Amino acid sequence: MKFYFAPMEGVSGYIYRNAYHKYFHSMDRYFTPFIAPKKNHAMSSKEKNDVLPANNIGMEVIPQILTNQAEYFLHTSAKLAEMGYKEVNLNLGCPSSTVVTKKKGAGFLSEPDRLEHFLEDVVKGLESLRLQLSIKTRIGLRDAEEFADLLDLYNDFPLTELIIHPRLQTDLYNNTPNWDAFAQAVATSKHTLCYNGDIFTVEAYRRFCEAFPQIDHVMLGRGILRNPCLLGQIKDGEKVDYQKIYAFHNDILDGYTEAFSGDRPVLFKMKELWSHMLPLFPKGEVYAKNIRKVERISEYQGIAAQLFGTVL
Ligand SMILES: Cc1cc2nc3c(=O)[nH]c(=O)nc-3n(C[C@H](O)[C@H](O)[C@H](O)COP(=O)(O)O)c2cc1C
Repeated sequence: MKFYFAPMEGVSGYIYRNAYHKYFHSMDRYFTPFIAPKKNHAMSSKEKNDVLPANNIGMEVIPQILTNQAEYFLHTSAKLAEMGYKEVNLNLGCPSSTVVTKKKGAGFLSEPDRLEHFLEDVVKGLESLRLQLSIKTRIGLRDAEEFADLLDLYNDFPLTELIIHPRLQTDLYNNTPNWDAFAQAVATSKHTLCYNGDIFTVEAYRRFCEAFPQIDHVMLGRGILRNPCLLGQIKDGEKVDYQKIYAFHNDILDGYTEAFSGDRPVLFKMKELWSHMLPLFPKGEVYAKNIRKVERISEYQGIAAQLFGTVL
């Protein structure tokens, strides 16, 4: 099985990614949170830092782009090709309303004709840049019946792989992934498929493998945020290693402290991290309020030390 690290905007940037790669079972590929090209074509410094080769040493990183304009997609792709990237990924899954109302991300799925023209232009343009394309998609906007036509559409284009998060845009992250829709893709897609969705435990991973023994690519997202040891558990039956998680946490804290000025943005990021990881700590709930309220990094470090003290 090949394991991919899911793109997670605001969380899985290069600081988190490097810390993960240093301490835990490495992923075969790491997908960046989306780059959203703008009219002036410039990447933000946050986006640039995230894809700079110097910030991604030793990892296979696939940059992801979110747009519905082929010209923007290709312009950003050209910059990524200059940096040495060989593949880019198109985001057709983002369900957030601000993105979807602009017909981007999962919103682009509601305009299959326009999507087809976009892909024609993009595939042509990428050829001359010697870049390959993969797609990460949801199964439709509001009805799983939309998926059959989308699969037909994807079959017309050369993709390195099709990553499927089998939810509708309207599901957001509610309900459960639609395995019938994924089975439909297994039956009809000509592409290498990667499954993504709700693999949070070893048991969930096993259930997936039993249901889809022919699939050998899986993408993990929130499962890793909740438990960074998950891949080690899946591959080698490892236990949760809190010592490693503490070192990982400290690298992330140092990285954010260096990258941002002031305590506030650093703590904002750390609080988000804990919003996923706290349930991994049996006494985590006791510390939830203190973490939520803390305003100074020095104070935060004390709380983190106490919290890790409950498990070490
Ligand atoms: C905080 C957060 C940010 C995300 N950002 C992106 C993104 O930038 N691009 C993308 O394709 N998906 C994004 N996703 C979706 C994930 O990549 C993934 O498809 C989703 O979480 C389902 O997989 P999981 O159940 O393994 O987490 C994001 C998800 C979360 C929770």
